[in-house]
Amino acid sequence: MIYQNLDVSLEDRILHVTINRPKALNALNQQTMGELADLFGRDYKDSADISGVLLTGSGDRAFVAGADIKEFIGVAAAGSGQKMAENGQAVFFLIERFHVPVVALVNGFALGGGCELAIACHLRVATETARFGQPEVNLGIIPGYGGTQRLNQLIGKGKAMELTLTGNMIDAAEAHRIGLVNYALPAAEARDKAIELLRIIAGKGPIAVRESIAAINAYYASSDFGAEAEAFGRASAAEDFAEGAAAFVEKRKPNFKGQ
Ligand code: COA
Repeated sequence: MIYQNLDVSLEDRILHVTINRPKALNALNQQTMGELADLFGRDYKDSADISGVLLTGSGDRAFVAGADIKEFIGVAAAGSGQKMAENGQAVFFLIERFHVPVVALVNGFALGGGCELAIACHLRVATETARFGQPEVNLGIIPGYGGTQRLNQLIGKGKAMELTLTGNMIDAAEAHRIGLVNYALPAAEARDKAIELLRIIAGKGPIAVRESIAAINAYYASSDFGAEAEAFGRASAAEDFAEGAAAFVEKRKPNFKGQ
């Protein structure tokens, strides 16, 4: 249970998990994804020692600024985009189907895979400075960790289309208005609210909580995550992504050709 990129502590049966790569704005590289898989799929799977999980990002700038673009360039060049999306989806399923509630405390940028991570959690509390978006189109790709499926479920097709096609960021107040987050609060209050929610749920019947999560998830069982992974594979293999990723690294605007 030693993690490189996750800080993990147990307080009063609540597992505090902090993604800790602040220099990369907590971007999800494969190491971090593997550690999340270990934590939710092995180390704490079905654990009776915990009543809930508080998931957040280190520092005050980002929850998670997305998949690690610099690392992903190599994955796409090797033609493994679809596989990467399938693997990422599998990790986020572990969270969505976890036996106790996972509350995302969104304390800054939640972009791309960061927004997808937040919406795979059961509840979301945002600080006032949080920013949400699916900016993959800026890079020439699409959300690949469930965003094309879960965002619809949470905020409806129209708003999901707008966020996904424009790549625009929205602030915490707008995220709250459209139902993307449960609460948007000043930083000092947001953490307390997240803990309060977890404590309330901890006082309920564990079987009822677990079965509620499973039953609500069952409603969305017809989602097509496979279609998303295939589409992600196609987009990430195109020249446009190579250009979009190079532009990000070089801090310039991309010149897309639709190829
Ligand atoms: N992957 C890898 N590195 C990332 C990253 C990501 N998703 N997001 C940010 N970083 C890195 C930056 O490259 C930079 O590293 P550097 O100091 O070595 O240059 C560092 O984190 C700080 O980011 P920077 O862009 O300088 O901060 P900013 O305040 O100007 O902008 C963001 C913040 C979040 C708007 C900007 O970093 C961004 O657009 N990130 C990518 C978001 C994205 O497209 N996510 C989806 C990926 S599929």
